[in-house]
Amino acid sequence: MPEADDRVEKQFHVDISTPDSGFFLKGSGAYDWGMKNRLARIFRPDTGRTVMLAIDHGYFQGPTSGLERVDVNIVPLLPYADALMVTRGMLRSTIPATFHGGIVMRASGGPSILKELSNERVAVDIEDAARMNVHCLAVQVFVGGEHETQSIANMTRQVDDGYRYGIPVLGVTAVGKELTRDARYLGLATRICAELGAQLVKTYYVDQGFEQVTAGCPVPIVMAGGKKLPELDALEMAYRAIQQGAAGVDMGRNIFQSESPAAMIRAVSEVVHEGAPPREAYELFRELSGTAVPA
Ligand code: R5P
Repeated sequence: MPEADDRVEKQFHVDISTPDSGFFLKGSGAYDWGMKNRLARIFRPDTGRTVMLAIDHGYFQGPTSGLERVDVNIVPLLPYADALMVTRGMLRSTIPATFHGGIVMRASGGPSILKELSNERVAVDIEDAARMNVHCLAVQVFVGGEHETQSIANMTRQVDDGYRYGIPVLGVTAVGKELTRDARYLGLATRICAELGAQLVKTYYVDQGFEQVTAGCPVPIVMAGGKKLPELDALEMAYRAIQQGAAGVDMGRNIFQSESPAAMIRAVSEVVHEGAPPREAYELFRELSGTAVPA
């Protein structure tokens, strides 16, 4: 039996106030410990931002250019990614379990590119997500799409299940071909995701009014990459998104389809975490990729 602690003098440091129990992420102070801990695996607590590498494209379009061999092309990039957006099939088959970053699991799917994309269902059971120790579930939401309600129901179901296990949900705003990708639409879609419980939201950058999209969303927004751009343009887009309130990026093709993916992800990280201006980050890209012009 341990000895009784009979010291009369105890040190409670009454002159030091207890740290604020708030959390470093926007709108995230009221979550339980497990959910906060998972969010802190996705977003770096020192900067409040993330560089998420999206490699989940195969769930609807098969072996996308740059992702033909994830073991060869993507695994070497993992040390530079704060988080990885991935399907459960690719996670189990190919991603080393020693990866220390956040795992954001693609959790909706169904139709291939040959069909109506909004006709998705929940694609991962919450128990399997917990078994894989994932840090977030990503669900596509098609606001204004043919299967809008179904896609939102997919998300709210995962939010309900996620709260039981402390796993947050990323609402991914999909923009159908028939919809206008502007701040008004993205403001609508992102706000709906947050209001219905997504703890973080992924959406596209737009030149006009993006800061209103981020301001109107009570939880962190990460910027989607989109189709491959010249490296300087992609860095410029990431810079603007961060300056206008994004809490990071979730980029795929602009990294893994770059002429030098490792150099590109490191340049993106400079923009996201260090606030490096695009031209400076581009110079870093050129230096790391061995394409810098000698002075
Ligand atoms: C969104 O529809 C999916 O999650 C994509 O597979 C992915 O996020 C797209 O990344 P990117 O547009 O940057 O290639």
